[in-house]
Amino acid sequence: MEIRTRSESVLQYHGDAVVVGAIKGEPLSGPAAEIDRALEGMLSRLVQTGEIRGRQSEVTVVHTRGAVPATRVAVVGLGEAGEDGLLPVRRAMGAAARTLRDRGCRRVGALLHEQVPAGTRPEHGLRAVIEGAYVGLYRSGERKSKQELPEELEEICLLAIREEEHDHFAPVVRAARAAGEATNFARRLVNLPPNDVTPTRLADEATALAQRTGMVVEVMEPNRIRELGMHAFLAVAQGSEEPARFIVVRYKGREGGPRLAVVGKGITFDSGGISLKGADKMEAMKQDMAGGAAVLGAMRAVGELGLELDVIAAIPATENLPSGRAYKPGDVLTAMNGKTIEVVSTDAEGRLLLADALAYVRQEDATHLVDVATLTGACIIALGHVAAGIMSNDNALAEAVLDAGERAGERMWRLPLFPEYRRLLDSKIADLKNVGGRAGGTVTAGWFLREFVGETAWAHLDIAGTAWSEKDEPHQVEGATGAGVRTLIALAERMAGGAT
Ligand code: BES
Ligand code: MN
Ligand code: ZN
Repeated sequence: MEIRTRSESVLQYHGDAVVVGAIKGEPLSGPAAEIDRALEGMLSRLVQTGEIRGRQSEVTVVHTRGAVPATRVAVVGLGEAGEDGLLPVRRAMGAAARTLRDRGCRRVGALLHEQVPAGTRPEHGLRAVIEGAYVGLYRSGERKSKQELPEELEEICLLAIREEEHDHFAPVVRAARAAGEATNFARRLVNLPPNDVTPTRLADEATALAQRTGMVVEVMEPNRIRELGMHAFLAVAQGSEEPARFIVVRYKGREGGPRLAVVGKGITFDSGGISLKGADKMEAMKQDMAGGAAVLGAMRAVGELGLELDVIAAIPATENLPSGRAYKPGDVLTAMNGKTIEVVSTDAEGRLLLADALAYVRQEDATHLVDVATLTGACIIALGHVAAGIMSNDNALAEAVLDAGERAGERMWRLPLFPEYRRLLDSKIADLKNVGGRAGGTVTAGWFLREFVGETAWAHLDIAGTAWSEKDEPHQVEGATGAGVRTLIALAERMAGGAT
């Protein structure tokens, strides 16, 4: 799919459709009003009769019958004018692009970047529209043997952009494209079944994307992982016949600047291990490598965009399965940094591998650590499927990640790491235990990780509630969402730009 910028107005574009927005409870305005006049008031009549309501992501497609060169106009709801920034625009574009593609359109003109909240920087509006389209257009189901899919869009044309601004917007389009594709790359990995996406396959994907963009990849096998002293990670892996992989991707963008480490949980299937999960919905636990996929997606974009920042990605990848060799509740493990951990539940496995991976990237002189993980069911209880939880030992980094999330259209909310929560991890026989009880389960998991980052600035994103969408929504299909990908990219862009 091509993304183009054009100076043509909504009345000039020759494509299969143009997309304009409608705000709930307000008369049509901007490009929507313009095309309404060309259609002799047809759209405003639909508003009057309640057929166009402006509800978020509701798409109404009307044929223009020659009144303008574009064959159709799609009016998409932006919801009520509110404080949600660009999220409504993002989602609306996703819904419109998807609807039009499914109706056989190939060339689509977009004007939603003209219909952004007052005060929005044009670059941000454009980026939200393009990324929104990529998110909306993604589809899963590639393992079906019979594909009955409408064709891909050929182009999305961002209209009404002055000729002299095309060069200025070119890097914005490039970044939006890279971020959109990175999101969908991660979604694909999460959606693929766990017999396809093994730790080895994750390593292969990392190798392929590193080669494409000239990054250095290192894939460590169990012997090397043992040499490094990552016994917490290895304990999780020992119940599975599928060999673990520790995947490290290094991107060099600026010598002497900050070094960002991104760490992703790479459990390719979480059965719970000896602390076995119930059978109901266990298949959903293929999503437990979504953090790893997010990190790989982000690296893909960082490499493609050539950001001026050193970034190191680390993904400890393994299955968590029960067997005669599996680790057990009661085991005491020694992590890479020498801390001892009493295993209370083998289902609290994510923090064990992340502990070792965080200790590893610290040793690699990372100055800022961000980990992304489908870590706790408790995070779903706390924030539902709406927002990711963020925990941090550094206010500046936490603010930077929250700001990146805002830019990326990913909701997140900070949870506190008050010292009282740390005591819940006290163990009688080791430095800490891997479960702090049901109360404050997301925060105690965060505290557990904090024990492995020392004084280095660190932020943890719990995406257990946001990595997977249980239902088809107008702006994205059911399944993996790519949670974390665009936030990490936006953070890297911010840090490359000198802020933070
Ligand atoms: N991978 C799960 C968390 C999860 C749950 C992710 C639902 C996505 C959706 C994690 O490894 C886990 O099992 N956590 C336990 C921790 C508990 C044993 C302290 C949980 O949340 O129940
Ligand atoms: Mn688990
Ligand atoms: Zn897990």
